[in-house]
Formats: sequence, structure tokens, C-alpha cells
Amino acid sequence: MDKFVIEQCGPLSGTVRIGGAKNAVLPILAAALLTEGTTIIRDVPNLSDVEAMGELLQSLGVTLDWNRGEGSIKAAVGSLSHSEAEYDLVGKLRASFLIMGPLLARLGEVKVPLPGGCAIGTRPVDLHLKGMAALGAKIEQAHGYMTATASKLKGAKIYLDFPSVGATENIIMAASLAEGQTIIENCAVEPEIVDLANFLNSAGADVRGAGTDTVKINGVKSLKGTDHTVIPDRIEAGTYMLAAAITRGDIHITNIVMDHVKPVTAKLKEVKVKVEETPNGIRVYYDGNGDVVASDIKTLPYPGFPTDMQAVFMSLLATANGTSIITESIFENRFMQVGELKRMGADIKIEGRSAVVEGVRRLTGAQVKATDLRAGAALVLAALKAEGSTEVSDIYHIDRGYQGLAEQLNALGARILRC
Ligand code: UD1
Repeated sequence: MDKFVIEQCGPLSGTVRIGGAKNAVLPILAAALLTEGTTIIRDVPNLSDVEAMGELLQSLGVTLDWNRGEGSIKAAVGSLSHSEAEYDLVGKLRASFLIMGPLLARLGEVKVPLPGGCAIGTRPVDLHLKGMAALGAKIEQAHGYMTATASKLKGAKIYLDFPSVGATENIIMAASLAEGQTIIENCAVEPEIVDLANFLNSAGADVRGAGTDTVKINGVKSLKGTDHTVIPDRIEAGTYMLAAAITRGDIHITNIVMDHVKPVTAKLKEVKVKVEETPNGIRVYYDGNGDVVASDIKTLPYPGFPTDMQAVFMSLLATANGTSIITESIFENRFMQVGELKRMGADIKIEGRSAVVEGVRRLTGAQVKATDLRAGAALVLAALKAEGSTEVSDIYHIDRGYQGLAEQLNALGARILRC
């Protein structure tokens, strides 16, 4: 299994371009199942999660042509051949559960293996299922599979107990081909939901209000193929913002939506890192004027501080001046990086859903393990700052969500070897 060997580096500097958002591409690929015809998706990042979703679509009868050089996927969707997803394919990524809504709407039945637990929590799918049931589906669970059937989905009013990103997406997709109007209240407002709605509308759907907590979907009879460019990845962007901060560097980030990274920008400014808008992106730098200081963070649904940025921000606060309290309110077990950061000399205690981070003067290189995607990125960033050499193993987690992380950081002055 591949690992990264990372040497301590000085301030990183240069320009990095952000790729398309993983969390937008995955639902959009699932949404392609709703269309009839050829769809082109552009600015698709070369990630193992996208690969896994592509394999799943192919197993359902979609002809997929991924031009990795150009970063585009052409998906030809005709009459789908299967309504059942294979366990081996679904097990590779949780977002694969997003095929439930589209397959149910297209074929009137779907059988999907339950996604199971993962490192960051149990991650139930009850809200997805409640949504499908409200649209008229009969849900049955047996032998680890969830089956949903409905001769014709019917629009309904659905209130989500929690603004789940995946449930909002699944319901929007199913409702797009349902009869009549669906209203989802207390839904997620993440930028990726807006991108999905834009994709669906360009394919002929009628989805209104995406990006607010109430989305209205007027069902249509069919959707056609379309051409869509994915929004930039705000978490990848945030990770490079943190790379600038941790190494006290100066990085210019292009292909970024300023609004999408507002919560990260606000926190960086609070800890005394400079963030400036430029004509084509943002510049994040340290001006050498005083220490980076501690700050408290609480993860929240968008536009609050993103849970996906919690681990990488912890790496910065681990060497900030003072004590920070980080509270994780979205997932119950998302401090997997803490044990590994402690092996590098960080002083962090977990108390329930909070981590108390005492800033230390130095981190030291050690052998550490990427336990999940964002924890892995956090360790890579900490390693840039740590004295000596750090070995990060299990980096297949990082490949799920970062295209060429080592290459991009090396181009900015890091010394990371993949071996
Ligand atoms: C998506 C993102 C992930 C991000 C997360 C929160 C994708 C592919 N992944 O995941 O990177 O960390 O949003 O911003 O877009 N929940 C339930 N019942 C449900 C569904 C969710 O209780 O039916 C709970 C989850 O356990 C979790 C919380 O709701 O505690 C948020 O989950 P959700 O917003 O659904 O996250 P995902 O869509 O899985």
C-alpha cells in the first residue's frame, strides 16, 4: 500500500488551481441516471471516489467515457439494465446510496445494499428512506439490502429532521421525475446542492430554491442529456488555504468561489492569517507580524464551519499560540486524526464531542496513519511543519478526495515522496 514520506518544508508559495468538487460530481453522476441521452460533465477531478461511482453506473447499464486528460466524463444513458446495485461497488463509497432516488424514479424499483458504518460515524440513511416513503415508495429491508418500490412516485411535502446533504440530494433527484410538486423543508443548503439543481434544471427538471432551506420540485416526465461544468471544490481549496497558513507561506488559489470558503476565510483571519481576494482567486499568506493564535471552532451545516475542514484546521491550531476548543457537531466520531497528531507531538485532549487543543511550539515527524480522507489531509499538512521526516500510510484514503495532492504541494515547495 502506498505511503507518503514528507520532509519538513519552509513557507510554501506559488499558485494552485482547484479542481471540480468531489461532493458535487458524485451526486451529479447519480443524477445522470435520471436522464435519457448523452451527458457531458466537465472539470471532473481524477479521484478514486469518482472512479468507484463510475463503475457503479456502468454496472447499471450506463456507457461511460472518462477523459482524464481533459477532466470530462461523457455518460450515455439509455434504458437502464439493472435496478440492483452490487454490494462490492456500493461498499467502496457511501455516496453510492445516492443512486436510490434516481433508480426508483426511473425504474419504479431499486435494491441497494445498506452502506454500513464508516470510520467517522454510523451514518444512518433514515432521512433518505423517510423521503422516499413520503414520495410513495414501499421500503423493505432484508439481508443487508434496502428495497424501494413505487409504480409512480407522487410529489409530497417533506420536512427533514436534520438538513442532511445526501438525503436532500436523493429526494430532489427522485422528486424530479415524480408526479406533481414536492416541497422539502429544512433541507441542506450546501453549494453542492445548488450545483446538482443547476445540473438537473439544465437537463429539463424544475427545481427551485436550491441553496435555501426550502426546495420546490415540480416533477417532469423525462430528463434529457446535458452539458455541465462542476463547481470548484471548496474543501480542496480550504486545504490549500491551510497549507499556506501552516507553513506560514503565501499561496494564490485560483478557480475558487469566495463565498463558498467564507467560514474558513473568517477563521483564518481570526487566527491572524491574511486572506485577500485577487482578480481570479484568493491569496492566503502570513505577514510575519505576531504568532498564529488559538481560536474555537464548532462545525455546523453550511454556511457554518464545514466538518470536512475540521481536521485540517486542527493541524494549524496544534501549533498556534494558546488553547483552542474544536467542537464536532455533525459526525459523532470525527477526531480520528487526534491520536496520530499526538504521535507527532501535538497536545490534544478529547472531551465528548470537543477537542481541547493546546498549541505547542513544535511538531516532530513520526510514522502515522491516514484513518479517513480528511484526517489524512490533516496529517499531510502537519507533516509539512513537523521537524524531520513523517511517513503517512494508508494514503488511499487521501486519493479518494484529493487529485495530485503531493504533486501540487511539491510544486509549491513541499518535499513529498510517494512510495
Ligand atoms: C456529505 C458529504 C461529506 C460531508 C457531509 C456533511 C458528500 C458525498 N459527502 O455527506 O463530505 O462531511 O455531507 O457536510 O457530499 N444523517 C442521519 N440520517 C440520514 C442522513 C444523515 O442521521 O438519513 C446524519 C449523519 O449521520 C450525520 C449528519 O446527518 O451525522 C450529516 O450527514 P449528511 O449531511 O447526510 O452527510 P452526507 O451526505 O453523508
